[in-house]
Amino acid sequence: MVDLTGKVAVITGAGSGIGKETAFTFAKQGAKVVCADIKASDETAEEIKQCCGQAISIPLDVTKWDQWTSLMGKTESEFGKVDILCNIAGISEATNIIDLTEEEFDRMMNVNVKGVFLGMKAVLPCMLEKGAGKIVNVASLAAHVGLAGLPSYSASKGAVVSMSRQVAMEYAKYNIQVNVVSPGIIATPILANNTPEMTKAFTNATPAGRLGKPIEIANMIAFLSSEDSNFTTGQAILVDGGWSQQ
Ligand SMILES: NC(=O)c1ccc[n+]([C@@H]2O[C@H](COP(=O)([O-])OP(=O)(O)OC[C@H]3O[C@@H](n4cnc5c(N)ncnc54)[C@H](O)[C@@H]3O)[C@@H](O)[C@H]2O)c1
Repeated sequence: MVDLTGKVAVITGAGSGIGKETAFTFAKQGAKVVCADIKASDETAEEIKQCCGQAISIPLDVTKWDQWTSLMGKTESEFGKVDILCNIAGISEATNIIDLTEEEFDRMMNVNVKGVFLGMKAVLPCMLEKGAGKIVNVASLAAHVGLAGLPSYSASKGAVVSMSRQVAMEYAKYNIQVNVVSPGIIATPILANNTPEMTKAFTNATPAGRLGKPIEIANMIAFLSSEDSNFTTGQAILVDGGWSQQ
């Protein structure tokens, strides 16, 4: 366990899967958690308050700048600051580049890339003022290797890796670290977007021989959000059961 005592963390995608698990993990490690999601993340915040810590829920569509500014206002009035941003919200697909429509491509870029851009744009002024900050963006194995059925998803996650690297370099001198976690195939509701054949093939192709668990991603996000990783920035860490190394 890492120590996040007293840290204020904004977590997008906190209504489900990896984001929800990350919200619980952070609360158990002492952070005050802002659970943000386009669908109700009240449940996550309520469960955290019942079991293990402090949390509020703020509805957020990551593609809307006015909702980010409103989230920052509410977070600062409730908790006084933002120490950590985890951009975890994302969408997936199952298609090929010939059948992919322009609308689908634009939506993917809007949520998975613009959402991460707006999140960093929203929190960085507060982190600069404090003289410290941690940003963890969630990309994917698909940013690093070719995976069938994921053309715009792969492009969007590649953009998350390269944008994070650029921001990391620019803000390193201000004691702000920006890193990426690239999960392999993790058992969450997002897999419902895959065909069963895709999920079976992905599982068989994972050297660990199984799907990952959301907690295995949350633990890496927590490490990269903690002061134990202060000299680590601009990295994309693959948590993929060995897939990328075969
Ligand atoms: N599960 C996997 O195998 C896997 C693998 C690699 C990367 N990832 C990435 O991990 C992240 C979390 O995925 P997950 O598996 O937990 O999926 P999930 O579907 O369980 O959770 C995604 C969450 O993002 C939210 N969301 C979607 N669009 C949003 C928007 N516009 N604004 C705010 N919230 C929005 C959803 O409501 C949902 O709660 C995603 O970025 C995904 O691409 C997942």
